Formats: sequence, C-alpha cells, structure tokens
Amino acid sequence: MVNDKTLSAEEKDRSRRLEWFRKARFGMFVHWGLYSQLGRHEWVMNRERIPLEEYEPLADTWKPRPGCQREWARLAKQAGMRYMVMTTKHHEGFCLFDSKLTDYNAARRGPGRDLVAEYVEAARAEGLRVGFYYSLMDWHHPDGARCKTDEAARRRFVDYIHGQVRELCTNYGKVDIMWYDVAWPLDVEGWESAKMNAMVRQLQPDIIINNRSLLPEDFGTPEQHIRPEEEGRMWESCMTFNSSWGYAPADTDYKTPKQVVAMLRQVAAGGGNLLLNIGPAPDGSVPQPCIDTLMETGRWLEKYGPAIYDASDRFQQHWMFTGAFTAKGSRLYYHVFHWPGQELAIGGLRNRVRGVRLMNGWELGWRQTESRLVIFGLPDTPPDPIATVIEIDVEGAPVQKLGAGCVLLEGDTFIA
Ligand code: GLC
Repeated sequence: MVNDKTLSAEEKDRSRRLEWFRKARFGMFVHWGLYSQLGRHEWVMNRERIPLEEYEPLADTWKPRPGCQREWARLAKQAGMRYMVMTTKHHEGFCLFDSKLTDYNAARRGPGRDLVAEYVEAARAEGLRVGFYYSLMDWHHPDGARCKTDEAARRRFVDYIHGQVRELCTNYGKVDIMWYDVAWPLDVEGWESAKMNAMVRQLQPDIIINNRSLLPEDFGTPEQHIRPEEEGRMWESCMTFNSSWGYAPADTDYKTPKQVVAMLRQVAAGGGNLLLNIGPAPDGSVPQPCIDTLMETGRWLEKYGPAIYDASDRFQQHWMFTGAFTAKGSRLYYHVFHWPGQELAIGGLRNRVRGVRLMNGWELGWRQTESRLVIFGLPDTPPDPIATVIEIDVEGAPVQKLGAGCVLLEGDTFIA
C-alpha cells in the first residue's frame, strides 16, 4: 500500500482497493458465449455479417456441461493464477447471467442456468478473486447502434446497460473487478460513465474498475502487448493464448510455457499483471494445449514464485540475450531464457555484488569488474528447461547501465 501523506482521499482509497491486485500478478480471462459454438472468433457475428435471425437460435442450442467452471477454477489455481475474469456479456449481447431486462440470457434459454452464478461459486471455491467482463457495445439490443443518433434510443439503451451493471453488482455477492469493454458508439457523457461507476462503487465499495468505460478509473488495460503504462498507475495486460479470445479450434498457434513465463517476467518487471485468456469449447472444456501449458507454468511458479509475485520493483535494465531481471529491493532475479553453459556474463551492473546463487539451489562463483559480472560454476544444461532463475544480491538499489568500457549506442534506451 502506498503510504504517502500527499495522496488525496480518493487516491488513498484507490490504493487500498488495489492492494490485492498489485500482488496478484496472474489472472485467467475467459471468453465464452454463443460464438463458442461457431468456433471462429468472438467477433464472428460481426465479421461474417450473420443476420440476427440466424444468430439468435444459438441461444437455444447452447448446452454447456455443468461443473466445467469448477475445472477452469482448479486449473487457474494450479497455474498460480489469483483471479479470474469471465465474459458476462460479450458484444453479441447474450447474457450469461439471469437478467430481468432481457430474456436473451443463459437462465432462460439453452443453458437453462445462470452461468455467472456458477462461475462465481467456482472461483470462490478455489479462493480466487472474481472479475466480470461486460461489453458496453451490444450488437443484439435494438438501440445498440441507433443510440448514437437518436436520444430516445440512447436513453433506453443506457438505462438497459446501467440496469444490467446494477444486476451484476447486486446479485452475486462481492465482485472484485468490473472489466468493461468496447464503448462504441457513445462517448463518456453518452454512456453516463461517471454515474454508472458511482453506482458500481456504491454497491461494491471494494471493487476495482478498468479504464474501458472511457474513464481512467483504477487500472489500464494494454491489449496484446506488455508495456508498463504511465508511472504510478496500475496496469494489466490481457493476452490471448492463440490469436482468438473465443474458442477457435482451427487456430492451434498456442503460447508455450516459456512464452507464458517470459510474459510473467515482463509484467512483474513493470509492476503490472497478466490476464491470460482461455476460450473454452461450447461444452466448457478447455483446449488441451492450454491445460498443458498452464500446468507447466504452475509447476514453474511453485519453484520460482517469489521472483514473479514479490519482485515488481521497477529499475532500469538493458536487454540481454540470455535473460532479463525482476527485482525486489537489493535482490535481483535474473531469469535465464537462453542458457549459455557454464559461464554467464551480465554487463553494466553498477552495484557491488554480495552473493550469487541458483534460486532453490547452490551458491555460485562470480567475479565482478566495473562493467561486467561473470557468474561461473553453472551446469552445462539449464536446471529448468523453461527458465532458470539466478538470485543476485547487491548493495543498494540496483542500477544497470552499459557505459564505460562498452560501446554505448547513441539513443540506447533502458527497458523494463
Ligand atoms: C477487444 C475485442 C474483444 C475482446 C477484448 C479483450 O476489445 O473486441 O473481442 O473481448 O478485446 O480485451
């Protein structure tokens, strides 16, 4: 928690609400809806211009298997994730929750059950925090597009959206994250976002809200890239596992455990979180490659967790071929993704080194000159095929600066 007397009451409250999130680091995003039955991306209705009459019957043919959400929550837990965010309504407009405002919803149509209630129950059973993704844009509601030019339509549509947000914040107990998406076609005044979020906070005083209702609120949401946002502001990168958010069996280009761990290293170094998506099949089963990779990631985190969860101090570092750092105080964690063999050299570390060891392993030999740290006594092959972490204790706050004795390229920049 940031403890600064100069913070306003609002900022202090934000810092209190964000406390768990700043440490969470890793969450599971779930995109699941009628589009999962078609298996060609969650934008299929829009991209293929499927007429409403043809799309709507998908609401009756969707029969998800009971209990599948328990499987996701267990998987998330085993992967080392600490929270989940599920689509309660995507752009297609179908509600996974029992809404009094439309019968285009899971309780009244094919599934015959409130899938949001089941999700909340499943996540809570595993001790995970609960987030609701909710798309403001709605391709099904008759006023969803004309609200832009017709004031009466806007009034009806905004009442509908605010009413559903109220239902989500009232009927499911404590909600940890409100994750809005796509604000087309209105602007911040049109959506009455300030009023909507004031209602959310009144109903859920501890909730954190993302920035996609066109107000900055509590955290930023870089999508499909990992980059720290403005200094001091919390952020969460959301990433797909293949290249679609919704179930897409034709796309088998899944991220590997090494790529997931590299992403975790990168968010930790920038003080952010990774929200990694799965797109379950219509029956709720998770594609096997995602299961395998998440299990591997969980095993890796069991070994190296502190280098990710607890090491989010920002310091300037240069890219290295062999690996990259995370840091906590004067402890550096060097995550080695390309194992160099018995010796590993890191340039530009400006602090006096006090000790070097393999994380969970033995002390290593090292020698240090002004611009070069050479670590020796390493095995020929990496102890961990995904990434091996080396702990380096230094004096003072870590600084890496390639300079004296090296060729410093003009405009050479630091990276996180
Ligand atoms: C985009 C897409 C959407 C996806 C979201 C996740 O805004 O429209 O399909 O849900 O990103 O961040």
